[in-house]
Amino acid sequence: MAAAGSAVGLGNIWKFPYIAGESGGGAFLIIYLLCVIVFGLPLLVTEFMIGKRSGKSAYGAFRQLSGNNRWQWLGWLSMLTAFIIMGFYFVVTGWCFNYLVEAIRHTFHGQDAAALNAYFDGFVGNIPRVLLYSVVPVVLTASVLWFDVNKGIEKLSKILMPLLLIMMLLMAGRVLMLDGSNVGMQFFFRIDFSQITPYVVLEAMGQCFFSLSIGMGALITYGSYMPRYQSVPAASVQVAVLDTLVAVLAGLIIFPAVFAFGFNPAEGPELAFVVLPAILEKMSFAWLSGVLFFGLLCIAAVTSTISLMEIVVAFFCEATAETRHPLNRHKSVLLVSAIVVLMIALCVVANLFDFYDKVTSCIMMPLGALGMSIFVGWGLSRNGDQQPQFNAKGIKRPVVALYLLSIRWIVPIAILLIFLYNIGLI
Ligand code: PHE
Repeated sequence: MAAAGSAVGLGNIWKFPYIAGESGGGAFLIIYLLCVIVFGLPLLVTEFMIGKRSGKSAYGAFRQLSGNNRWQWLGWLSMLTAFIIMGFYFVVTGWCFNYLVEAIRHTFHGQDAAALNAYFDGFVGNIPRVLLYSVVPVVLTASVLWFDVNKGIEKLSKILMPLLLIMMLLMAGRVLMLDGSNVGMQFFFRIDFSQITPYVVLEAMGQCFFSLSIGMGALITYGSYMPRYQSVPAASVQVAVLDTLVAVLAGLIIFPAVFAFGFNPAEGPELAFVVLPAILEKMSFAWLSGVLFFGLLCIAAVTSTISLMEIVVAFFCEATAETRHPLNRHKSVLLVSAIVVLMIALCVVANLFDFYDKVTSCIMMPLGALGMSIFVGWGLSRNGDQQPQFNAKGIKRPVVALYLLSIRWIVPIAILLIFLYNIGLI
């Protein structure tokens, strides 16, 4: 459940619909689902197993399992990736907090598509305000890590996540009753093969990594908390299914409404933020629905930022432990928060939003995944005593064989091919 809390977040509700909207709807959806199966499942298993087996987070896990320092760069890559993601993730989380406040003030009452678009443009154009709202979730996240109340948040999210799911189901129900919603359904489910380009495939792969929180060692930490009896494949399937369900549900809510209300599906990053208030206004108990939805969205975002910041805090603590200036947890939290605020400022002021997003999802996370698949598929198996790779006891043989086939061949070759196609070498 905790790993699902990390996975389910803005990636599902904000990013998935906007990328799908820009990349042809149904064509993107089908490639995305394929990516979840081809990359998502084997990599979830890989990260959970690395964590479970080593009992460590990304920094120490690779050294522990390989017995040397050659794979240390994967830990560094994961730390860097987390920093850059936080640089824009907190900004969007800040948008959510702003929209929560506006939902409480019932600002969007009676506004049409044009007014909602104008509101969004006005808001993101106000840099001090955007910065202020981005810092709020940083402080919140840092406080959770400072007071070490992650466990409490995990318990809380066990109640709130299902609530978010119910809320989204209700919204989907309402949207399907709108006139013209069928056009959106067609957009989301009809596959137009001419829309499938190498770039769309790269985006779908990147979105899959981002949404499942894979390719950067975030889930290694969760694996290290797993009790012995817990089955890694079962946990992986659960996280993949839940995360994908939430993303598809978000698409089911947003696209029919896009066409019913006269928005543009290729609106860009503002898509969810202009369409969702319009839908919420159509719900019965509109005010309450708005406040509840944006409140839950903020919490879903913060459970993801907690896992992002935790990676870096743990990295700083572990990496400095043997030096002359070890950082304790509190100092790490402060230092990391300060750097994150700088990254956010750079993102907003220098307009690096798209750069942060693309460089992490489409380059760094696939690179991390490539490294991890080679590490597990080839690096570890050379080392005789690491066989069978991951205490595969109790797991059926065909499952293990399929996993090894994926992690040794399919995952690395597919990532390389997608890269080469996009650089234009193929
Ligand atoms: N998966 C999260 C989301 O979809 C984002 C995230 C990425 C969290 C990487 C942790 C690590 O919102």
